[in-house]
Amino acid sequence: MKFRAIMGALCAAGLMCGVSAAQAAESVEVLHWWTSGGESKAVGVLKDDMTKQGYTWKDFAVAGGAGAAAMTALKTQVISGNAPSAAQIKGPLIQDWASQGVLVPIDSVAGDWKKNLPPEIDKIMHADGHYVAAPFSVHRVNWLYINKAALDKAGGKVPTTWPEFFAVADKMKAAGIQPIAMGGQPWQDLTLWEDVVLSQGADFYKKALVDLDEKTLTSDKMVGVFDTVRKIQGYFDAGRTGRDWNLATAMVINGKAGMQFMGDWAKGEFANAGKKSGADYVCAAVPGTEKSYTFNVDSFVFFQQKGQKAATPGQLALAKTIMSPEFQEQFSLNKGSIPVRLGVSMAKFDDCAKKSYADEQTAIKSGGYVPSLAHGMAQPDAAAGAISDVVTKFMNSQQDSKSAVAALAKAAKTK
Ligand code: BGC
Repeated sequence: MKFRAIMGALCAAGLMCGVSAAQAAESVEVLHWWTSGGESKAVGVLKDDMTKQGYTWKDFAVAGGAGAAAMTALKTQVISGNAPSAAQIKGPLIQDWASQGVLVPIDSVAGDWKKNLPPEIDKIMHADGHYVAAPFSVHRVNWLYINKAALDKAGGKVPTTWPEFFAVADKMKAAGIQPIAMGGQPWQDLTLWEDVVLSQGADFYKKALVDLDEKTLTSDKMVGVFDTVRKIQGYFDAGRTGRDWNLATAMVINGKAGMQFMGDWAKGEFANAGKKSGADYVCAAVPGTEKSYTFNVDSFVFFQQKGQKAATPGQLALAKTIMSPEFQEQFSLNKGSIPVRLGVSMAKFDDCAKKSYADEQTAIKSGGYVPSLAHGMAQPDAAAGAISDVVTKFMNSQQDSKSAVAALAKAAKTK
């Protein structure tokens, strides 16, 4: 009676309605790297939803953009027999973890997923014919964010080609504005580099970074990619070394810098700072990439828990919540992404998200929808890591473009 009375009171207060004692006892440990302002707000939606369903949320957040530190922490946890309930894993890494035999299938809550996911993404959520991952949202990587006041000072025209981009950057410089906000970390360097690869066309990108085609990797066009990156570097500030991506975004938000190359998780920072697209900032496709779309889909996988063979109620509730239309909407509104679930209304989203959605549809039809290398969607870890090392070396030395291209072709062979 006493327990029921307490549950009744909690329910009246809007908490834990219809929660069984077993659910109330389960705590779900969740490993992720969403620690910036916008990211924390987004993952907070999941925490609240799970708490309302009676689960205890144990946050295992490991700071570090793009998740390299989180992945190291995860390996340690799994090896020591303390795998979390769920972890933020994406792309080919999902298959890698599944092949270790440490994941649990979540098919029982995924009955309608196939018809509600784009086929390219539905495929990634599977291993051995079972759903083992739940997708959150779609991030577009090839964005350029521009402070509106800085753009106006530089003539007001959004650059759509590299010559236009350099003209805007020069005008910003002349107006005393730092043209580009950049964080010197390997994944941020790789993000910029893949943007420039994409600016040579989606076919070139696919041949180079998906097929790892040697002829494309060693082509004159690829030498030109490195040349362009070198030129872009001329507009960075001296303080870029080690700077986190969200601090670079803050420079654009505050008008200390004019532009940033970053995926649309940056939009979560603008939203969190109360800034409006169109009025305070502009989102544009990276010059030369208007028709293409580098996708980056975050997802959670679920680890076998001690003494359990199948997914626990908490793990199934997590997966089900992540794919629910209400959560998909609220999460992306905070995260800067767009829902991955098809058919979720875009009515509450801003112009940038609407553009992302429209461009995604166009890119899917035209063959311009390509997986992001820098965000773990295009290649297994070993090859992606080796390519990243080449780009990092280039961007932190005076290496010439031809030598970088030779190193790139060698790195692509890493298995
Ligand atoms: C993830 C995003 C995250 C970003 C910065 C990306 O790889 O997919 O969810 O916001 O890294 O940490």
